[in-house]
Amino acid sequence: MKKFDYQTLVDSQKALQQRSIFWDPAIYEEELKQIFNRCWLFLGHETQLPQPGDFIRTYMGEDDVIVVRGKDKVIRAFLNACTHRGNKVCQAEGGNTRSFTCSYHGWSYNTEGDLAGVPLEKEIYDNLDRASLGLVPVPRLESYKGLLFGCFSEDAPSLLDYLGDITWYIDVVTDSAKGGLEVVGTPYRTEIPGNWKLPVENAIGDGYHVAWAHAGAMSVLGAIGNGRSDNVLGISANNTGVDQAGAIEVVMNTHTVLTTLDGQSGYALYDHPDPVLEHIEKNRPQAIEKLGALRGKQLYGSETHIGVFPNLQIIQGLNFIRIIHPKGPGKFEVWTYGMCEREMPEETKGIIQNHVRQTFGPAGLLEGDDGDFVESITHSAAGYATRQMKGFLGMGMGRKVPWDGPGEASPGLVNEACQRGFYDQWRRAMEAADAHGIIGEATPVALREVRHG
Ligand code: FES
Ligand SMILES: [Fe+2]
Repeated sequence: MKKFDYQTLVDSQKALQQRSIFWDPAIYEEELKQIFNRCWLFLGHETQLPQPGDFIRTYMGEDDVIVVRGKDKVIRAFLNACTHRGNKVCQAEGGNTRSFTCSYHGWSYNTEGDLAGVPLEKEIYDNLDRASLGLVPVPRLESYKGLLFGCFSEDAPSLLDYLGDITWYIDVVTDSAKGGLEVVGTPYRTEIPGNWKLPVENAIGDGYHVAWAHAGAMSVLGAIGNGRSDNVLGISANNTGVDQAGAIEVVMNTHTVLTTLDGQSGYALYDHPDPVLEHIEKNRPQAIEKLGALRGKQLYGSETHIGVFPNLQIIQGLNFIRIIHPKGPGKFEVWTYGMCEREMPEETKGIIQNHVRQTFGPAGLLEGDDGDFVESITHSAAGYATRQMKGFLGMGMGRKVPWDGPGEASPGLVNEACQRGFYDQWRRAMEAADAHGIIGEATPVALREVRHG
């Protein structure tokens, strides 16, 4: 029996969300079980692990996980917990190693997860069954064009089925350039006292808040920048009108996309966008050849927010991959990885990394603004009466535009279609009896191929 009436918590017909979903610890516990223990979760990018022994640490839900390339070059993921008495076997955020040695009693594990060494083993154990005491593996690990995902559910659909139609959009980021995608540096990490769903709904498609929430930051970026930021997303502190022309929000099975579709506006906030824009224009013919005119001309270079349920955002134009790690109902960590094309000159990569730090690093001009709002929203739900209120995401309901890509498109950047899509998906995942029930109906592959080549 379901523990909660999810149709009441998220009312799709009226676009209402009960505010308790941002506060109630019992709902959060269900999220860990129904969502984070069954969905495919982003672990990192293969370019972070080029050599045998390279490893990174990350989280799947609240589970601390080591991702490591073994001596056999295979990438595996393990729970970061010693099978002796549970201490974390790895404290470093990443690096290269031959083994993971637990600092409590000294058990050590090789990069394939086997228990390789036990201090005083012969003296203190009789026939210790080492084979059954290796690190606990994350049972599913798959890569989509270098993007690594793990899943705790043995029965979940394949990663490709889980991603479904969103791959058509992800391919713009992974396939437009010959050398593919590269993650630069280590992720910026910021801890914020808010509920994990709020930064997700913000990043996947909230064009409405930009002119207001970021008014101060926009004037600073406009003053130090190149002038384009006066018109970022068509809205700014100086221009609170909205140019919705061309942009769309797309909701598909499970995931969402917001995109400007103009091929260049993602770089509006850069101080020195020219090297990046020049690189994009130089590469555009190849993108068109590889992905066709619609994606090569309109999506490549646009500001595009790809929202992969539950907690991953790949944001082209702002050039980062972002993952929201929940830390209890009222706290999360946001990890922001700079991303660029592997073939870009080092100097251009440096410009991108600087920009990511300047905007969405821990002291970034935009990150701080958004953090304040999600904290405020979360903590207002501490009040019992306030928690009975409903949030309203009814903007643009029923407005549709024709669109030749996968998914159902709504017009404009200022719309709440992506957020509605996210909460509908949240409800589907919370209600699903098994991991297959989590994903929605994809456009059948055959139909997709006919439509998009
Ligand atoms: S907890 Fe790791 S060796 Fe004891
Ligand atoms: Fe924001």
